[in-house]
Amino acid sequence: MSLVVDEEKKARLAAAETELNFIDGDTLKKIRTKKYPHPIADAYLKEIQQAANEQVADNAAAEVTETSASSAPGTPSEAQPVEPITPAVAEAVDRSQDDTPDVPLRFVEKKRLHWTGKTYLAPLTTVGNLPFRRLCVDYGCDITCGEMGLAMSFLQGSKEEWSLVRRHPSEGIFGMQIAGSKPQLLVPAAEIIGRECAGNLDFVDVNCGCPIDLVYKTGSGSALLDAVGRLGKILIGMNKALGDIPVTVKLRTGVKDGKNTAHKLMPRLASEWGASAITLHGRTRQQRYTKLADWDYIKTCVQAVREREAEDDLPPVPIFGGGDCFSAEDYWYKMDNYGVDGVMIGRGALIKPWIFTEIKERREWDISSRERLELIRKYAEYGLNHFGSDTAGVNTTRRYLCEALSFQYRYIPIGLLETMPPRINDRAPAFRGRDELETLLASPDSRDWVKISEMFLGPAPESWSFTPKHKSNAYGSEEGQG
Ligand SMILES: Cc1cc2nc3c(=O)[nH]c(=O)nc-3n(C[C@H](O)[C@H](O)[C@H](O)COP(=O)(O)O)c2cc1C
Repeated sequence: MSLVVDEEKKARLAAAETELNFIDGDTLKKIRTKKYPHPIADAYLKEIQQAANEQVADNAAAEVTETSASSAPGTPSEAQPVEPITPAVAEAVDRSQDDTPDVPLRFVEKKRLHWTGKTYLAPLTTVGNLPFRRLCVDYGCDITCGEMGLAMSFLQGSKEEWSLVRRHPSEGIFGMQIAGSKPQLLVPAAEIIGRECAGNLDFVDVNCGCPIDLVYKTGSGSALLDAVGRLGKILIGMNKALGDIPVTVKLRTGVKDGKNTAHKLMPRLASEWGASAITLHGRTRQQRYTKLADWDYIKTCVQAVREREAEDDLPPVPIFGGGDCFSAEDYWYKMDNYGVDGVMIGRGALIKPWIFTEIKERREWDISSRERLELIRKYAEYGLNHFGSDTAGVNTTRRYLCEALSFQYRYIPIGLLETMPPRINDRAPAFRGRDELETLLASPDSRDWVKISEMFLGPAPESWSFTPKHKSNAYGSEEGQG
């Protein structure tokens, strides 16, 4: 038993030597026991509480004035000079109802994000782990983002949550993603993250897209799309708490189908609340993956942001669009036609991690089964580096490798296709590959994925079986979180 523990410790130490943002047990304990200070968050939360109290007092006073004014008709109000309602005043009044502190904001001290033309791997819960991101970087991906973590769990000092901020040194531009419902959770969490990851974190992304009920019902993820005042406060506070680390936002087009709201929200993210970059997944919360993302609407939203920035004389922030990109041809088409600074890639990378090479080299790659097997070998190697090469590490690596294969088997070799370019929703009938290995790599049977894992990780324990978390083998049923 002590041997196993030693091995685990050794593995952890090995990972700690190469990976960045490794948070030690003492720090986690300090966070868990609420002994980790976050003075910027405390001051900010006090400030917004005071503003809210004053607002309540003002409203009560206004109500009294209104009542007395209406009880004495014809008496002009002396306390309130009457101002003509210009569009600007009307807008200001409208915005004050959102209850965000009305301090003019210029986040000049933030590092600018020079992302135009760079490739971005979408944050992907479970499957977008460090070994997978490292693999995508090998194929040319420029920007990577960790899996979504919950502000509440960060504040509870959860070891699992804090492992989500780990970064491999090869990740050139790396951010973490956080979800939460209110400033009281997100701002202190951001302050601690900023301090612990100082120097090794290029951005913090706020999840405003997660559709799953569990997250939505707590007021987090895509629920923030309909809680604009709260979102503004969150972003302003996080910007303060994070110092020079930029805050970015990832969102969906809206909550309900047919009721897109992003075109109204996005200009405010950039101009009022200091978002340093925005990524827009072209679907509503309600919309599942079976229907294509709405790229025309993405274009409308980009234009709305650009108009507002021009009005406010602010420099443009990078805007990335996302949804269904699956080939170099499609990527460049989207870049050329929808006004975005980049295209974020999720499932396209899960099914074919070499998509980044295709994009960079502007070609569709008819990759061989041998080359694909080499990719799988590398993933196994990176998995063992990260999770450890003791028994527990091998099992964890096997599990994540099988998760990865549950997407990769969906790749249809382009040498077998009748029409180009390949599209993400294309479904081929069961096919025979050009060699035995290609046929095996296309197998939808999870037992075959275990078999493939055994080529690199040795035999799986007798009792070991695998059920994919995202069930991507049932077409179109994956409930992506953003
Ligand atoms: C398995 C899976 C996990 C996801 N996890 C996250 C996540 O943690 N955070 C997030 O913002 N989006 C998440 N998403 C959404 C993607 O980031 C992306 O916005 C979406 O899949 C659309 O892009 P695509 O069509 O290129 O896949 C996830 C999607 C999938 C398929």
